[in-house]
Amino acid sequence: MKLFDVYSCYDINLVNGKGSSISDDKGNKYLDFYGGHGVISIGHSHLHYIFRMEQQLHCLGFYSNAVKNDMQEKLACKLGKLSGYDTYNLFLCNSGAEANENALKVASFHTGKSKIVAIKGAFHGRSSGVLAITDNPLLSSEFNVKHDVVFVEMNDTPALEKALGENDVAALIIEGIQGVNGVVEPSVEFFKSAERLCKTHKAMLILDEIQSGYGRTGKFFAHQHAGIKADIITTAKGMGNGFPIAGVIISPKIKAWSGMLGTTFGGNHLACAAGMAVLEIIEEEQLIGNANKLGDYIITKLKDNKAIKAIRGKGLMIGIDLENMPAIRKQLLEEYGIFTGSSGSTTLRLLPPLSITKKEVDQFIEAFQKLTQIVLV
Ligand SMILES: Cc1ncc(COP(=O)(O)O)c(C=O)c1O
Repeated sequence: MKLFDVYSCYDINLVNGKGSSISDDKGNKYLDFYGGHGVISIGHSHLHYIFRMEQQLHCLGFYSNAVKNDMQEKLACKLGKLSGYDTYNLFLCNSGAEANENALKVASFHTGKSKIVAIKGAFHGRSSGVLAITDNPLLSSEFNVKHDVVFVEMNDTPALEKALGENDVAALIIEGIQGVNGVVEPSVEFFKSAERLCKTHKAMLILDEIQSGYGRTGKFFAHQHAGIKADIITTAKGMGNGFPIAGVIISPKIKAWSGMLGTTFGGNHLACAAGMAVLEIIEEEQLIGNANKLGDYIITKLKDNKAIKAIRGKGLMIGIDLENMPAIRKQLLEEYGIFTGSSGSTTLRLLPPLSITKKEVDQFIEAFQKLTQIVLV
């Protein structure tokens, strides 16, 4: 059997990782400024994470939600405490798309409505419902396009007011910061209008914090920079540092009933051990503060670079617009061994582990400055 060929990926076979460095089967070393799509939060192969996972495997790796699992309650309690959403309830699942899919369903159950308002440029995943609210027709099959969805322009409050105006909307879904679209931040005013208009028109405000959450932007969730509260928050990527775990954080005003949601793997024992280890390390090593400090440092160091058309983001979620982005990205990898990401054809996307050090950040900055100066000459 061969692989179903859907990824255009680098011909690099990674075999080891430690902190923010990774190496391949030929012994080449790389600096990880992308965290495998923003998944690596606490760094690769963290000793406490390994200890927690190994210990759990010796006890019990998996049982389903047919039994009570008090590790889920402990994880919910810690997540509530660290995120500031301690009065909310947690539903555990396995991936970002699944978290968003469940969030939409919860909003629809609660309001009895079906229409969803999404934001232009949004990316929410690749299962059916969330593809319908993802603004990229190329990814959608005929099967996905039948949902009742309205897209509004980011930061266009009058358009949002109009979309919600008929009181027939179950939810507005918005990313804390749009990642796939190029690290695009909603304005504070737009966030505040979204919160107010959702309340007025009895729609649920869903914050997709799958990429922008878990401390990456210097607050636990990116929307907390705007001082707003969501009805439902979805999280995945950094939550398990690579072990598949995702969560839907749900306002106490939304009532659960037996059978409302469900999953076989979601919240299993090993997933909870991963989730707990990640939160313990984030807290112990003050990684949210590190993301804040080093993110500001990167932007300050790069902001006068004339090759940069624009630089956006918060904490360690940074987008850099460059005319020749694909060439710079390729050179960063091939000449300096630095993995970065991209959004579209012009934005270099940085999503390093939250545990990255100042020395590693300086290594990236030095390489980037050299490359962009060479290209300019
Ligand atoms: C904002 C956002 N939402 C949802 C998803 C989908 O997550 P997953 O690939 O785990 O299904 C992604 C993935 O990149 C994302 O960036």
